[in-house]
Amino acid sequence: MNSWDKRFLSDEYLFGTEPAQALVKLEEHLLPNGKTLVVADGEGRNSVYLASKGFQVTATDYSEVGLSKARKLAEMQGQKVNYLVQDIYETNWSNNQYDNVIAIFIQFVPPEKQRSVLNSLRKATKFGGTLLVHGYTPEQVALKTGGPPNTDHMYTTELLNEIYSGMKIIISNEYRIVIEEGQGHNGMSALIDFVAKN
Ligand SMILES: C[S@@+](CC[C@H](N)C(=O)[O-])C[C@H]1O[C@@H](n2cnc3c(N)ncnc32)[C@H](O)[C@@H]1O
Repeated sequence: MNSWDKRFLSDEYLFGTEPAQALVKLEEHLLPNGKTLVVADGEGRNSVYLASKGFQVTATDYSEVGLSKARKLAEMQGQKVNYLVQDIYETNWSNNQYDNVIAIFIQFVPPEKQRSVLNSLRKATKFGGTLLVHGYTPEQVALKTGGPPNTDHMYTTELLNEIYSGMKIIISNEYRIVIEEGQGHNGMSALIDFVAKN
């Protein structure tokens, strides 16, 4: 059992059952009904939401416990999602496979692996497809309302703009708002939204 399995053991959904507010806001940039990859989706709130909106969703996570809660959520809402137990560091998504690739709160990735993980997300995105990344900026650490206590795990617009400089950047925006996404992400938060076309 890994550390996230242990965090997900309770019946309660740590990040809630509603999608991340940023996903609802940014959904309009996704290719409608597209083949969509949601990485590190945990308990399934984002994949189930996208399936309900007509996307063909594959969602991954390395936590079996998280994904079994995700399957339960999908079943309860009558949605179909292809769930795969996958470690993000061992995944080699084939080139240009998905119309939409989505990474929400994957701040567990340490700085030495950040670039290769973020590059692999682009690799999985089809030409003309959309990449959506949402997470925390370094200011989040002082706010203590979610995420790990490591500023170097977080993103800035400079970092994402540089890593994805070969893409057409649609949105790259840092902002602060109060979010209520389960007990895990709750309160004033320093967030970043990034959307780009491949
Ligand atoms: C902060 S949670 C976010 C979950 C989901 N994206 C959401 O917004 O509700 C981070 C997720 O990353 C997953 N995770 C951590 N390390 C991972 C790894 N090496 N490979 C795949 N998933 C991992 C955890 O199991 C957890 O579900």
